[in-house]
Amino acid sequence: MVLLSSAVGQLPAMGFNTWNAFRCDNVSSASVLGAADALIESGLARAGYRYVNVDDCWSSLALADDMEGSLVAADNFPEGMAYVGEELHRRDLLFGLYADRGFRTCAGRAGSRGREKRHAQQFAEWGVDYLKYDSCYAPNFFRKGAIKDYKRMRNALGKTGRDVLFSACGWNWWYAVVEPKLAHSARIAADCDEWANVYEASRTNEVLGAFARRGKFNDPDMLLGSSPRAAAYLSPQRSRAQFALWGIMTAPLLLGVNPYDLSQYDIETYTNEEIIAVNQDPVARQGVVVFSTCPDWKLKDYWWCSPWSMPADVRRDWTKMLLTLAAICLLSRSLIARRPRLRVRSVSFVLFSIFAGYAGVLQYYKPTLHACTQVWAKPLSEDRGVALLFVSWDGPSTNVTCDFDCLYHAGLSLGESYSVRDLQNHVDLDAPLDIFDKTYSSLSASLSADGDAKMFRVFQP
Ligand code: GAL
Repeated sequence: MVLLSSAVGQLPAMGFNTWNAFRCDNVSSASVLGAADALIESGLARAGYRYVNVDDCWSSLALADDMEGSLVAADNFPEGMAYVGEELHRRDLLFGLYADRGFRTCAGRAGSRGREKRHAQQFAEWGVDYLKYDSCYAPNFFRKGAIKDYKRMRNALGKTGRDVLFSACGWNWWYAVVEPKLAHSARIAADCDEWANVYEASRTNEVLGAFARRGKFNDPDMLLGSSPRAAAYLSPQRSRAQFALWGIMTAPLLLGVNPYDLSQYDIETYTNEEIIAVNQDPVARQGVVVFSTCPDWKLKDYWWCSPWSMPADVRRDWTKMLLTLAAICLLSRSLIARRPRLRVRSVSFVLFSIFAGYAGVLQYYKPTLHACTQVWAKPLSEDRGVALLFVSWDGPSTNVTCDFDCLYHAGLSLGESYSVRDLQNHVDLDAPLDIFDKTYSSLSASLSADGDAKMFRVFQP
């Protein structure tokens, strides 16, 4: 029996997720429905962004005191979750919710471990269309156990009979390779809240293209936008580059920024129909890198306790907490000092190990960025040709060229003449791309400094 619905999630999901916009403090039924209205008014819903995903902090710290351990909506959702579902459906939108395979969610709310059947049943009753299933406080750290946990919720959802898009959030590349029918999408890297994370997630995704297909997408996390009012955002140019990258990577297009706060520039970025069409192309193949000056990429395993896999503000809180702890320990050292010498030494050793370990983890997981360039290519359906993305990750403005080898790897043929369309400016280039000669055939793009990307569609008229 196939328990993952094939009625949903066959193309990358498009919508809004509350986490970067509201975190815990501002998520409520009012803010969610306000964002839903803004999604409609801005034209984003019409462009395809229909999922409204309520992330962490919608539920209480404890499960209900009933035999089944039901989830309970927190005070910020006084009307309950079914109400939110009804209101979203009334607006012709879809309802997404967040839960966790561990004992607690990442923000410390009650988790679903051991209660999967009951919780899946609640989600179905509330009209949930999308479930983001996180991995915090889960005793099953390693692949085998993690997969088992995900399967338990997938099966429980399947048995409810409701078509729910199941989205795994375990922040690890290996979710892409282990189990073809585990989830409709799987997070493959840490939380994306700065440009260096966009680079890391894309470099990780670069080797995972073969594992993506219709109904199974690699999720490099949310689109950041350029609104300084969100907890995480990019410069306008980088936010547009991120959108083009997510487009070619066939990634879920989930806005992390409140649609209410979007600038006209962001709205134009995210309603670019030509890039959306690349992302939503029915062939649903992930783009691959066909030219790169970037250094080799080593895949990292991310753990929820890695400070860099946390959102930047949560990481800052953790660091502050540890520094406070250190201060307390140092102060109490004078008290301990009255005890025998050996005790002082062993306490100092333990403290030193904890902080050295923390510093090591910080260093290891710190996202890196390289001043290198790439060309990505994605095959499109039928006569739509190939989408090409030219990206410069960092450094000064530069020209990036896709030469004959690059064009060949992109699926273009020798002896053919192609038209080229600029998908960001919506114009066809004057000169055709003639691939008549191995030495002289190439396509170039000029990219601005500090992270930029340009997307083209190359096709035969
Ligand atoms: C993280 C997850 C984020 C967000 C957060 C909520 O684990 O990667 O996207 O859901 O938990 O606490």
